Amino acid sequence: MAHSWFSLPLGRVAGLLQPWALALSLLLVSGSLFPGPGAAQNKPRIVTSEEVIIRDGSGILVTLQCNLTSSFHSLKFSYWTKNGVELSATQKNASNMEYRINKPRAEESGEYHCVFHFVSAPKANATVEVKAAPDITGHKRSENKNEGQDAMMYCKSVGYPHPEWILHKKQNGVPMEIVNTSGRFFIINKENYTELNTLNLQITEDPGEYEWILAEIVILAVIIVVYEKRKRPDEVPNDDAPAGPMKTNSTNSHKDKNLRQRNTN
Ligand SMILES: *[C@@H]1O[C@H](CO)[C@@H](O)[C@H](O)[C@H]1NC(C)=O
Ligand SMILES: *[C@@H]1O[C@H](CO)[C@@H](O)[C@H](O)[C@H]1NC(C)=O
Ligand SMILES: *[C@@H]1O[C@H](CO)[C@@H](O)[C@H](O)[C@H]1NC(C)=O
Ligand SMILES: *[C@@H]1O[C@H](CO)[C@@H](O)[C@H](O)[C@H]1NC(C)=O
Ligand SMILES: *[C@@H]1O[C@H](CO)[C@@H](O)[C@H](O)[C@H]1NC(C)=O
Ligand SMILES: *[C@@H]1O[C@H](CO)[C@@H](O)[C@H](O)[C@H]1NC(C)=O
Repeated sequence: MAHSWFSLPLGRVAGLLQPWALALSLLLVSGSLFPGPGAAQNKPRIVTSEEVIIRDGSGILVTLQCNLTSSFHSLKFSYWTKNGVELSATQKNASNMEYRINKPRAEESGEYHCVFHFVSAPKANATVEVKAAPDITGHKRSENKNEGQDAMMYCKSVGYPHPEWILHKKQNGVPMEIVNTSGRFFIINKENYTELNTLNLQITEDPGEYEWILAEIVILAVIIVVYEKRKRPDEVPNDDAPAGPMKTNSTNSHKDKNLRQRNTN
């Protein structure tokens, strides 16, 4: 049809200009002449299973589903991602997708996506949320350093959605915000990880209890700062000394000396 418009003798085009332009603009508005990602009716439709809440220890098997119910382009492949990272061995050429979480724990919570790649169209995805209550899974309990050294403390968590980390230092038992006038405190906050770095430890300011808070969970960590011990020449470690705490070493070496003295006598 379109070809015949353009093959018309030039003389007749002028007379047809109005209906021709009108027809073209109608086609453009409906979007059927130039289908593309903006054409709403050409967007693939994906139906997903409901969001899931994992309760640790419930042992209930979790199955996530995505069904590509309509698509105008042929499918190349599809796969699952968790927090934006492709889950290995989930790639298939299937419009009905399923992902099983066999041992559902808080670690498995997060944002899952099913992703569909097409032969000649942009990829499409849908989200299935897997929620779990937050939990702290690891942290440094204490940092024991010399004055002037740096301290590093961290906390790791699982759970989705991620609550915000809060960090306090206890002043006379009262949790207070860390005062950073000296500029020695550096905090790294990620969704599932937080870190406090304290540079150039000050014995008068830094020792004490620190408190991490994640939702309703509170954990304590301690910074211990000791004066830097300068080694006196007579304290230079003796390679021959037997293993054990320092006091034992010194008593042993005393005995050894006595023994040797007695032997030589
Ligand atoms: C997806 O398709 C399968 C097979 O037809 C069906 O059993 C399942 O219920 C569908 N899932 C959703 C979320 O629609
Ligand atoms: C995926 O499957 C569809 C339907 O069976 C088929 O048309 C298409 O060619 C397949 N794509 C690949 C890359 O194998
Ligand atoms: C899902 O689609 C959105 C919107 O196009 C995109 O920003 C996002 O990166 C996609 N996610 C995945 C996992 O492909
Ligand atoms: C502390 O101060 C330093 C220097 O101004 C700054 O770079 C750092 O981000 C601050 N730390 C915090 C936790 O605000
Ligand atoms: C935190 O989450 C990211 C993705 O969001 C993941 O790559 C990383 O392994 C997680 N870290 C921990 C400590 O769980
Ligand atoms: C005590 O023994 C330990 C372990 O062998 C050693 O590292 C340390 O230097 C010793 N201390 C003294 C005072 O000899």
